[in-house]
Amino acid sequence: MNKRREFLKGAAAMATVSLLPTSVWPSTENGRLRTAHIGVGGMGAADLKSFSSHELVDITALCDVDAATLAAAKKLYPNAKTFTDYRTMLAEIGSSIDAVVVSTPDHTHAPASMMAMEMDKPVYCQKPLTHHVTEARAMRKLAKKKKLVTQMGIQVHSFYDYKLATILIQDGIIGKVKKVHAWSPKNWGFDGPAPQGSDAVPESLDWNLWLGTAAKRPYKEKVYHPGNWRKIMDYGCGTLGDMGVHIFDTPYNALALDVPKTIKNSCRKPTGFGFPENNIVSYEFPGTKYTTKNFEWIWYDGPGSPEKHDDLALPNNEKLPDQGAMFIGEKGRLLLPHFMQLPRHIVDGKYQELDLSSVKKKDNLGQPTESYDKEGNKHYHQFVDACLGKGKTSAPFSYAARLTETILLGVIAGRFPNQTLHWDNKKARFEEEEANQYLDGDYREF
Ligand SMILES: NC(=O)c1ccc[n+]([C@@H]2O[C@H](COP(=O)([O-])OP(=O)(O)OC[C@H]3O[C@@H](n4cnc5c(N)ncnc54)[C@H](O)[C@@H]3O)[C@@H](O)[C@H]2O)c1
Repeated sequence: MNKRREFLKGAAAMATVSLLPTSVWPSTENGRLRTAHIGVGGMGAADLKSFSSHELVDITALCDVDAATLAAAKKLYPNAKTFTDYRTMLAEIGSSIDAVVVSTPDHTHAPASMMAMEMDKPVYCQKPLTHHVTEARAMRKLAKKKKLVTQMGIQVHSFYDYKLATILIQDGIIGKVKKVHAWSPKNWGFDGPAPQGSDAVPESLDWNLWLGTAAKRPYKEKVYHPGNWRKIMDYGCGTLGDMGVHIFDTPYNALALDVPKTIKNSCRKPTGFGFPENNIVSYEFPGTKYTTKNFEWIWYDGPGSPEKHDDLALPNNEKLPDQGAMFIGEKGRLLLPHFMQLPRHIVDGKYQELDLSSVKKKDNLGQPTESYDKEGNKHYHQFVDACLGKGKTSAPFSYAARLTETILLGVIAGRFPNQTLHWDNKKARFEEEEANQYLDGDYREF
């Protein structure tokens, strides 16, 4: 049996403790949703705030491997039970929670979410959906099999500007789209060597639980926890996995893309520890009804990104937004800054006024973004409402898994600098056999 199947079996086995069938969840009988939160510092704290802003949510359980973070969250949500190990939480109070929110570092997304879904719990999981391609496919399959409400934490997906850009592109404002450039100068890479030695683990942190299914490794201050794990291959997905998933989401959705045919990452040679600090990742996709026969997506990250390119020149020599995407169509270009700014339509080097008269009639667009919090909450509320039987989520795992797979293929391509990799969607394998070893994880028992 391969490692993935063992892991999936393990998640299922762990989840057999104290289960109630979905049909007898007590909470939804009173029309409220009891949520359990795994990872309550960093983005987890923001997730808690957004969930608690829904009047029908009861924050019921909090789990964090850092006791100091857990104590801070407990102060804000004093009625919630607290746990250090999500497996204990799900086993002990699985029957009295209705939905699970996963806001941990990326390598724990699948282990925690799979376990919750095996227990028939709807899951809101932070982005990128998973750390490995096989996990994304497994998450999608399980959510479908169990018919669960799911949502990936790409809250800007529900923002006005992004929905507007999607409508404009699908209405053909720039004709069929040939190419998209997307960029972020953030640096979630690390070109240095793996650290030597070890530091004392802070008293509040359970390092074994933080590592979870990842291999044992000595603790080093400021290298992994909190936040910096993004830079390290065993736990994060680099800048592409961090920002790319947000910025690529609108082109991916608007152009109805599936997974790519080829992927090439121009970056430095792998060190085996951190992700490269600068990546230029080119993807070729099969055409869709919104694109030309072939479609190309190019991602730039790291300091100084993006590289100068004629496609990115703005009218009046204006400076490009720090982060964003540029759609190149047969009849012009559409700039989509990241985020909370309206898209800009450019034809022959000049900005065009946006004609929103027909767009305004479309469902679901809402009003231009006033505040981040108000707009951001929509994505969370959509999940809560869907769990309570009202409406659907807009970034369910059926969508999120394909977007994440695409992103992760670019991350894997970073292990083969400047080499074009060919992806076989049906087989879920690269033609280049040496790349297939990175599709799967090694899962430690912990
Ligand atoms: N959607 C967004 O805009 C957005 C923004 C930031 C981060 N994120 C995502 O949120 C997730 C967390 O990122 P972050 O920046 O908050 O990281 P972080 O390291 O700052 O925080 C992670 C939290 O999870 C806890 N944790 C770690 N392992 C755990 C485990 N096994 N069980 C329970 N708790 C655990 C940590 O102690 C910490 O409190 C990532 O997936 C990241 O991509 C999303």
